[in-house]
Amino acid sequence: MPQLQKRFDVQPRDFVRAGEASLQVQRMLRNIGFEEQIIRRASVCAYEAEMNIVMYGGKGEIVLTVNPDEIILQVNDDGPGIENIGAALQEGFSTAPAEYREMGFGAGMGLPNIKKNADFLDIRSGRHQGTNLRIVFHCTGESR
Ligand SMILES: Nc1ncnc2c1ncn2[C@@H]1O[C@H](COP(=O)(O)OP(=O)(O)OP(=O)(O)O)[C@@H](O)[C@H]1O
Ligand SMILES: [Mg+2]
Repeated sequence: MPQLQKRFDVQPRDFVRAGEASLQVQRMLRNIGFEEQIIRRASVCAYEAEMNIVMYGGKGEIVLTVNPDEIILQVNDDGPGIENIGAALQEGFSTAPAEYREMGFGAGMGLPNIKKNADFLDIRSGRHQGTNLRIVFHCTGESR
């Protein structure tokens, strides 16, 4: 049984509310009392994954699970999916149109950043299959 589980909706193309879900994740982790470093790593991952749903995904959600020894972020959307996950994980790979680049996105650093900040990352996706990320952070007794 997870100690805590919370679900946050993410709406595609909603740039007004973009970032809200990851902010809620950050607040929850802070309230629980995790140490700043793990909160920062989890928040970066949640934000990058949320922005990817907003820009490329479909109707989506972030599910935060806190277990005694781990934090899990499951980030799901029912959008078009990622055709080549290996390519998408490369630094600099982006399909962002000019419109997103003008907003400062599209450096192709989101997924690499998630990988760097997480202890474990699993991506399930495929064309027309939506995208599911499982991002795990191990925490010892001292992290909270
Ligand atoms: N949820 C998703 N659904 C569909 N495609 C996605 C999704 N997330 C990522 N992608 C694809 O993977 C590519 C790489 O994502 P990544 O987050 O690394 O870079 P980016 O979003 O293009 O740029 P940045 O994150 O630096 O602003 C995206 O350009 C997009 O083609
Ligand atoms: Mg991105």
